[in-house]
Amino acid sequence: MASTMLSLASVSPSSSISIHDTHKGKIKLGSLERSNLFLKTEPVGRVSMVAAVNTSRFDGVTMAPPDPILGVSEAFKASTNEKKLNLGVGAYRTEELQPYVLTVVKKAENLMLQRGENKEYLPIEGLAAFNQATAELLFGADNPVIKEQRVATVQGLSGTGSLRLAAAFIERYFPGAKALISSPTWGNHKNIFNDAGVPWSEYRYYDPKTVGLDFEGMIADIKAAPEGSFVLLHGCAHNPTGIDPTPDQWEKIADVIQEKNHIPFFDVAYQGFASGSLDADAASVRLFAARGMELLVAQSYSKNLGLYAERIGAINVVLTSSDTAVRVKSQLKRLARPMYSNPPIHGAKIVANIVGDPTLFSEWKAEMEMMAGRIKNVRQKLFDSLCAKDKSGKDWSFILKQIGMFSFTGLNKTQTENMTNKWHVFMTKDGRISLAGLNLAKCEYLSDAIIDSYHNVS
Ligand SMILES: Cc1ncc(COP(=O)(O)O)c(C=O)c1O
Repeated sequence: MASTMLSLASVSPSSSISIHDTHKGKIKLGSLERSNLFLKTEPVGRVSMVAAVNTSRFDGVTMAPPDPILGVSEAFKASTNEKKLNLGVGAYRTEELQPYVLTVVKKAENLMLQRGENKEYLPIEGLAAFNQATAELLFGADNPVIKEQRVATVQGLSGTGSLRLAAAFIERYFPGAKALISSPTWGNHKNIFNDAGVPWSEYRYYDPKTVGLDFEGMIADIKAAPEGSFVLLHGCAHNPTGIDPTPDQWEKIADVIQEKNHIPFFDVAYQGFASGSLDADAASVRLFAARGMELLVAQSYSKNLGLYAERIGAINVVLTSSDTAVRVKSQLKRLARPMYSNPPIHGAKIVANIVGDPTLFSEWKAEMEMMAGRIKNVRQKLFDSLCAKDKSGKDWSFILKQIGMFSFTGLNKTQTENMTNKWHVFMTKDGRISLAGLNLAKCEYLSDAIIDSYHNVS
């Protein structure tokens, strides 16, 4: 390389300096942060100096922490241990622990292919046949709220997107109103309200002493909240605890919400998947609707139809008149348009085709019962093997009292770390396990891990 005189006067002290020789590549001279100085040997042997400013306008962007739930799957994938078990994410697995596409979904998709259905844009509010089907599944086709057209239904981007759209609506039309969320709750609820600019606080829900519902605490906190708050309730199969109020407790929750002029906001992510019955799992929502209350309900078809990645769900707002429903719907559409314009068609057609066809509909119900049944079997086996192996006299019956995909083990953070580090059981740090990721064959192994973590780790 030809020798040359370099002036570094214009280079800031926080720059990285390197010489680039076209034959030898880049030679680093210094490690200074902000800009690179290159010496380039040109074909004629001349050397030119190029200062390439390397400053990023995005330097201030810090690294985001991994998602507490989806991060568990990443850690699971990275593990090479053959005993590893992924009980983190709430996604249904077969007894062979493989992902499952419902047979009825494949049939509906085949029908769509045969019919040569197109992929034109949907209207902002989504597929009309889907919106009708989803509201009817939720409330029951004969429900007065449906008959009197008092529900504003808009197809959303699954449960999350529907919750987010509703949160944006709350922020716009009820500025300053608070969302009340259970402690604990599905981790994304806080993110959703934070990003939508809706202030939130928690109401007591889980009682670590009983690994059950802190009903008194829940009622007291809902009572103490500012009048007109939005009370987020899990319609069934509470995530992460698996602990649901009894029908009698639901009545009392409705009483206090009515008393305080609060607005119930249901998150229904597991209809039909908790008990195996679509109607039984919608009982809480229907109880509130039967009282003539105005309420919001976000729905998801991720779990009950296994349509996780199709992003299909809906937001329903029950109102006191059809006239208000029309106006509310128009404003939900107004919020959706600049966010994502219109929702995806594929999952909407699958749901509409299945619910609209009596044969497919009953096949779906049978498959849902099968999935819920497999989870119940695993729950029972886990309980049985914990009781058989643990001689300490600890009461494990809370496991059987919980419902749905999840079980809250009551294990603390250090104990869950032992579950992962020693036993290769990947789970969230709050002590939640997804029973959908467990099979009968692994129940004994999991019991050993739980017993060891519970008794030997403080
Ligand atoms: C309570 C609850 N709400 C909402 C969702 C949203 O799921 P999705 O956006 O996949 O429909 C989930 C998923 O785990 C959930 O558990």
